[in-house]
Amino acid sequence: MNTIQIADKKFELLMENETINKRIRLIGIQLNVDYEDRCPVFIGVLNGSFIFMGDLLKEIEVPCEVEFIKVSSYRGTESIGTIKEVIGLPENLGNRDVIIVEDIVDTGITIKHIIDQVYLQKPASVKVCSLLYKPAALRAPVEELQYTGFEIPNDFVVGYGLDYNGLGRNLKEIYRAIL
Ligand code: IMP
Repeated sequence: MNTIQIADKKFELLMENETINKRIRLIGIQLNVDYEDRCPVFIGVLNGSFIFMGDLLKEIEVPCEVEFIKVSSYRGTESIGTIKEVIGLPENLGNRDVIIVEDIVDTGITIKHIIDQVYLQKPASVKVCSLLYKPAALRAPVEELQYTGFEIPNDFVVGYGLDYNGLGRNLKEIYRAIL
């Protein structure tokens, strides 16, 4: 279906599942090369990254650890700009290669907050892997954002882990809000 309704909003198809999965396979190949002979810690940012994290980790062939953190910063389609940690970071990141896995980097406020917290533990390296990235919404450059699936316009999107008021995370495809 190309147009769907979630609560009070209409959305149109932006990305097929096969397009997403092809891109994830390529990111996996890149990570396997970049982290050869290392043992990175992947930290998924809940809730939005849960599907991306699962599909991405199936492509990873280097030894690795998997952790999750949970932050909440959004209400509906608008950023409220404050970040609440619901599940905190693991405490053993000293000297580790950390890869933070996000569903989307929008303003960059959430990821910047998480990156700053990770650095406090003196890791060996910190990189961010985000499925989606809205360059037009980014408030300040995020140097650590080295792996991105797709750059998308500054529209609100749902599906493949991303929600609208808690709904739509289960959709296989990614949809964007129709104004
Ligand atoms: P940022 O702090 O503005 O970069 O926003 C990051 C978080 O906001 C993401 O992890 C998502 O949970 C949420 N978010 C940002 N843009 C969207 C969107 O278009 N759809 C659904 N959630 C979004």
